[in-house]
Amino acid sequence: MTTVVSARTSAELIGAEEPVLAHNYHPLPVVVARAEGAWVEDVEGRRYLDMLAGYSALNFGHRHPALIEAAHRQLDRLTLTSRAFHNDRLAEFAERLAALTGLDMVLPMNTGAEAVESAIKVARKWAYDVKGVPADRATIVVAAGNFHGRTTTIVSFSTDEVARGGFGPFTPGFRVVPYNDPAALEAAVDDTTAAVLIEPVQGEAGVIVPDDGYLAEVRELTRRAGCLFIADEIQSGLGRTGRTLAVEHESVVPDMVLLGKALGGGIVPVSAVVARREVLGVLRPGEHGSTFGGNPLAAAVGTAVVELLETGEFQRRAAELGEVLRAGLESLVGKGVVGFRARGLWAGVDVDPALGTGREISERLMREGILVKDTHGSTIRLAPPLTVTAEEVQGALHTVGKVLAGQV
Ligand SMILES: Cc1ncc(COP(=O)(O)O)c(C=O)c1O
Repeated sequence: MTTVVSARTSAELIGAEEPVLAHNYHPLPVVVARAEGAWVEDVEGRRYLDMLAGYSALNFGHRHPALIEAAHRQLDRLTLTSRAFHNDRLAEFAERLAALTGLDMVLPMNTGAEAVESAIKVARKWAYDVKGVPADRATIVVAAGNFHGRTTTIVSFSTDEVARGGFGPFTPGFRVVPYNDPAALEAAVDDTTAAVLIEPVQGEAGVIVPDDGYLAEVRELTRRAGCLFIADEIQSGLGRTGRTLAVEHESVVPDMVLLGKALGGGIVPVSAVVARREVLGVLRPGEHGSTFGGNPLAAAVGTAVVELLETGEFQRRAAELGEVLRAGLESLVGKGVVGFRARGLWAGVDVDPALGTGREISERLMREGILVKDTHGSTIRLAPPLTVTAEEVQGALHTVGKVLAGQV
C-alpha cells in the first residue's frame, strides 16, 4: 500500500464534517484514506487492522483483487439499465446465488433494509394469496433485540429505544417475542401469521448466538403453523460464521433468506431476497421494484462474490480462524473480559465495565492500531475480514489484552 498524503490532516477533516454532516453517527476519530485486505491506512499514513470489516460488508477484505477486477471489467461495459430492460449479467447472478443458497428464486435489491422491507411485503402477499389470511390482517413475529435496518416499518418492531424513539407513528402488524425462546414463538403464532422473521445470530445485539436446536425448532414450528420462516442473514451470512449461511449450522432451510452487506463485495450496495418459488412467485409485474436493484455492475460484483464463496475457502477460513479467535478470547476471560459469544470469525466481547465503556475501549484499541466497534454498553464486536491471518488475529488479541490490562 502506498501512503496517501492528504491536503488536510485527520483533525481538520473531522472538524470539517461537523457542521455539514448529519450527526446520526459517532465515528471513531480515524480518517481512512486507503485500504487493502485486512488493513486500512489513515491520512497521516498510520496503519490499522480492520477488526470490524464494514459490519461484515468486507468479508473478503478491502479491494479483493477478483472483486475489483470484476467491477473494473463491468464499469468499462455497462453499469445501469434499470429493470425496464434486461441486462446480460443478471441471469447468471440470480442462478448462481440461488444455487449457492439451495433456494429457487432471487429478488435483487440494494441495501439490507430494502431486502427486509421486500421480504415483509412478499410474506404479507403470500399470506393473503396463498394462506388465505383476511385482507390487512397479516402479522409477522419477530424477536426482541432484533436489528433489521432503519426504515420506518423496520424500526416499528425494534426494541431499541434509541433506534425507534421519536420516529412514530409505527407500522402495525408485528409481534415481538423473546429471542431464543421457541415456546414464546409458538404462543405468538396464529392463523394470521404470515412469517417469523429472525436473525440466526443477532449481530447488533452483541453477537447473540441462540442455543443449539433453536433454529431447527423455528423451522419445525413455522412448518407446523403454516407460516414462513425468514432468516435475516444480512450480517451472519456469506461465510462469516464458517458456513455460507448461519442456518446451515443446524441444517435448516428457511423459506426466505435475506442477504446484503458482503454480497456487494465492499464495492457496491447489493442485497437480495432468496426464496422458494412458491413464495417469491407471488410477486407480479409492477407490485415491487427498485431502480438500482439488479443493475449490471451490482450483478457482476455479486457474481464474483458468489464465485469466491463457491470455492468454500472463505467458509473454511472463518471456521479455522474462529477457533484462533475463540482460544485467544478464552485466555482473556477474567483478565478484563467478562464473557464472550462467538460463531465463526465473529465475536461479541463483554468487557469489565470498570475498565471503560465499549466506546472507550475502542478508542484505546484504535490508538494501538486496531479498529473495532462497540455495540451496547461495554460490549465490543470483533469481525475481521475472512482474509485475515491467524497471526494477525493473535496479534490483535494480544493488543486487546494489553489495553485491558492497562499496559498501553
Ligand atoms: C441483520 C441485519 N439486517 C439488516 C441490516 C440493514 O442493512 P443496511 O444497513 O444495508 O440497510 C443490518 C445492518 O447492520 C443487519 O445487521
